[in-house]
Amino acid sequence: MTNILQELEDRRDVARIGGGQRRIDAQHAKGKLTARERLDLLLDEGSFEEFDMFVAHRCVEFGMEENRPSGDGVITGWGTINGRMVYVYSQDFTVFGGSLSETHAQKICKIMDMAIQNGAPIIGLNDSGGARIQEGVASLAGYAEVFQRNIMASGVVPQISVIMGPCAGGAVYSPAITDFIFMVKDSSYMFVTGPDVVKTVTNEVVTAEELGGASTHTKKSSVADGAFENDVEALAEVRRLVDFLPLHNREKPPVRPFYDNPARVENSLDTLIPDNPNQPYDMKELINKLGDEGDFYEIQEDFAANILTGFIRLEGSTVGVVANQPTVLAGCLDIDASRKAARFVRFCDAFEIPILTLVDVPGFLPGTSQEYGGVIKHGAKLLFAYGEATVPKVTVITRKAYGGAYDVMASKHLRGDFNYAWPTAEIAVMGAKGAVEILYRNELDDPEKIAARVADYEKRFANPFVAAEKGFIDEVILPHSTRRRVCRAFASLRGKSLQNPWKKHDNIPL
Ligand code: HXC
Repeated sequence: MTNILQELEDRRDVARIGGGQRRIDAQHAKGKLTARERLDLLLDEGSFEEFDMFVAHRCVEFGMEENRPSGDGVITGWGTINGRMVYVYSQDFTVFGGSLSETHAQKICKIMDMAIQNGAPIIGLNDSGGARIQEGVASLAGYAEVFQRNIMASGVVPQISVIMGPCAGGAVYSPAITDFIFMVKDSSYMFVTGPDVVKTVTNEVVTAEELGGASTHTKKSSVADGAFENDVEALAEVRRLVDFLPLHNREKPPVRPFYDNPARVENSLDTLIPDNPNQPYDMKELINKLGDEGDFYEIQEDFAANILTGFIRLEGSTVGVVANQPTVLAGCLDIDASRKAARFVRFCDAFEIPILTLVDVPGFLPGTSQEYGGVIKHGAKLLFAYGEATVPKVTVITRKAYGGAYDVMASKHLRGDFNYAWPTAEIAVMGAKGAVEILYRNELDDPEKIAARVADYEKRFANPFVAAEKGFIDEVILPHSTRRRVCRAFASLRGKSLQNPWKKHDNIPL
């Protein structure tokens, strides 16, 4: 009996060493942790329960039958993050470069199926050379099995991908379907084809970092949602993110103990808006002052900074925030901002996370590059996302809400539940100068007359009261009381029930 027990321990020891000490040292030398070290940091201590530790590949090509390491290059199982259940897989680069074989894929699929059935998030730690070359089409089939499950899990359980090494070819498409992608700076890469193939096909010479590093994907392509200094920081941030999210789509977002007064008065907000309407101010200041304990978890911080997206808590409950940022492009909506915010709104709606929208938007960005790029279609994504969302929606217009962008930004007409405005709000078809130049084109050579027209227009429209008279604004509120008003609004909406008409699925402009 003792021998049998010992054999199990011996087999476990062999499995735990993965591709061997030499390769573990090589992994460490690149500044990367091993697959198991990563799980230790991601999950609560001692909470990891492993599946399929002894699974080995079945490939008999290229002498592979002589080399069948236990676990087959991926560690799978479940554990907890601050006591809440998550399913995880962590690819082991020391075993065949973490490449995906038929059995490797089956292990991932097993925990994905369990996650969907049991209603818990899926977190993938990706560090893989892609399809296991020796297995050919069996490996491609394995990828597609994973993709199919990513698709079925979408909107059912949150899916988070952390890119912690190379991620080429098929390996990028599973993360691409998931809700959030985090990357590690200088050691993680995502590309459909690597620099060598790029050179062969297009003659372009590009480094892996330029082609698919963390900076590229968080600043240029927007494929990734966050870039972090090292493995430790990336995993700590995943833990923080999970704390904001419900475990599945039938659960309300988590409520955490909070120590911040929901009625907290912020007198400084009364002077946040500058006297000059063309002067920017930092919308993050408002977000920080509204949320519990000033905590704002920003998503896609480095992309389309003219719109802010992320999570705060109000009275301990998660709330998604979308806010125009006047310090970047005057906070206007453009293609990138619309896409970024639309995806975030849809994530929130899929997972029952209420949405707070803070509006200071001078309109859509004009110009040929925007029109040729399809700003109509991309702007419509945000309009669509807000209009279909059934979660509680509270909107505060702080300053400008002009034109189509007024409609788009969670207006009353898109089923906003509480639409507040500060006294500084200006709700109009366009700014005074633009409006006067169109309405009084024949007076343009008389600056005095035009100045009077502008002043008149501002008096009539540069305020929230025209909209409030029509009931499009529910209440004009004092800036210093915004936290209290917004907390009460969301509290009153906890029982909200709103259904869209039955459909197979919608046809959002893609
Ligand atoms: C099998 C692989 C492998 C793979 C790496 N290895 N990639 N084994 N299949 N795809 C093995 C190596 O043989 C090596 O084994 C070990 O992993 C480490 O690899 P190195 O090359 O020594 O490491 P490094 O220099 O860090 O380079 C990492 C790498 C490179 C950039 C990932 O290995 C690489 O380019 N691999 C191929 C990537 C690729 O083209 N994959 C296929 C993509 S196509 P030893 O025994 O020496 O430790 C694809 C199609 C799917 O994925 C489509 C689905 C829709």
